Amino acid sequence: MAKVKIVDLTLRDAHQSLLATRMRTRDMLPILETFDSAGIYCFEVWGGATFDACHRFLNENPWERLREIRKRVKNALISMLLRGQNLVGYRHYPDDIVEKFVQKTVEYGMDVFRIFDALNDVRNLVTSIKVAKKLGAHVQGAICYTISPVHTIEKYIEIANELAYLEVDSLCIKDMAGLLSPKMAYRLVKALRKEVGLPIDVHSHYTSGMASMALLKAVEAGAKMIDTVMSPLSGGTSHPPTESLVYALNELGYDTGVDLDVLLEVREYFMKIREKYSGYLDWRSTIPDTNVLVYQIPGGMFSNLIAQLKEYNALDKLPEVLKEVPRVREDLGYVPLVTPTSQIVGVQAVLNVLTGERYKVVTKETRDLVKGMYGRTPAPIKEEIRKKILGDEKPIDCRPADLLEPEFEKRRQELIEAGIEDPSDEDVLIYALFPQTGLKFLKGELEEEPFPVPGGKIEGKFKVEIEGEVFEVNVSPLEES
Ligand code: CO
Repeated sequence: MAKVKIVDLTLRDAHQSLLATRMRTRDMLPILETFDSAGIYCFEVWGGATFDACHRFLNENPWERLREIRKRVKNALISMLLRGQNLVGYRHYPDDIVEKFVQKTVEYGMDVFRIFDALNDVRNLVTSIKVAKKLGAHVQGAICYTISPVHTIEKYIEIANELAYLEVDSLCIKDMAGLLSPKMAYRLVKALRKEVGLPIDVHSHYTSGMASMALLKAVEAGAKMIDTVMSPLSGGTSHPPTESLVYALNELGYDTGVDLDVLLEVREYFMKIREKYSGYLDWRSTIPDTNVLVYQIPGGMFSNLIAQLKEYNALDKLPEVLKEVPRVREDLGYVPLVTPTSQIVGVQAVLNVLTGERYKVVTKETRDLVKGMYGRTPAPIKEEIRKKILGDEKPIDCRPADLLEPEFEKRRQELIEAGIEDPSDEDVLIYALFPQTGLKFLKGELEEEPFPVPGGKIEGKFKVEIEGEVFEVNVSPLEES
């Protein structure tokens, strides 16, 4: 019987996608030992936006969370999502920070690192992959899936081969917007199995309503792992339900090794969690958003565009903006729409329409992207756009992090000067990644936010720090998960 391994994302991506990443550690721990006895291959429990949300909104130490989870998971592997050189933050960090972060995380018992880059520029993954490999962790190289004229099967094989060259242990097809159709899932997995040969894990958000079908076809094509979440936190912008996939696969003759009876007990638990956290739940993110199928714009980005246009009292311009988004994306080298590129493309498209002249006003982020500061775009940036934005200035062609000076010791000194006596490496990392909220957290100046009232609005957008500048963005969880 062919084996299919179940990777359950309930403790990371599910609440990041549906509950604004707000699940408290105390609500995760009580069920873990039972959950761990169900036969799940791997639990994704850390990384992505959880490190940020954990300290910023919940006044919890993310390292403590990891320690407590690790203590209770003895059978399954545990995994995290790492944004390559961005780690769990929003900008490129220098190599010494990346090395220290990965090394500490391994010390805490992390088994699997799933590592991706928004542009699929593998140079942004090299440092974290090398360190994790050297320390004996399982490294999963993730490929962001998107649709564009340059994102052909051949292109994905090329990226996968670059990852294979770095000796990753497996590949992940990371479909953050739910664009992966059953047919493409089948073709892509087949091609990667044949040409690259590494085991494949498929991660597909439920956003467009196609994910269960895509996973099944991926398994038929030879995927060895699939990503699912417990049913109370499944569907919508989250993922297909673990229980249903286990049942369907078992019936089709695949061996998942998962005990459904145990999952029913786990389900009861997460039903209560869903109820407790219902104030965070926007009903719109619980149903399929089929706009994705037509516009290929992730659901969260779609609602961000509407919000921005409302701010400018220009909602009537939405049809124009929807036409402008793919044009901007084409100009900028067909970047996948995932944090931070989804925000960059969205804001620029709105500016292009509202000012009446394309690229008359550009954001710092658009400029940086054109300059190569995020890495290499999937296709070259259009020459006339580059000239208009950069003038005679030359874009960089090296790996962006090559331009960064080591930071770790400097950050440690800053912490000591700020009054934190003898900071641990973990403290320094919290501060290095999130200088403002991290420092407040370490000084004990933050508090756990109260649970929102169901039907009310969630306070606080994500404050994003990019190269020292802080601004508020309505970062939709699905775009960066
Ligand atoms: Co995700």
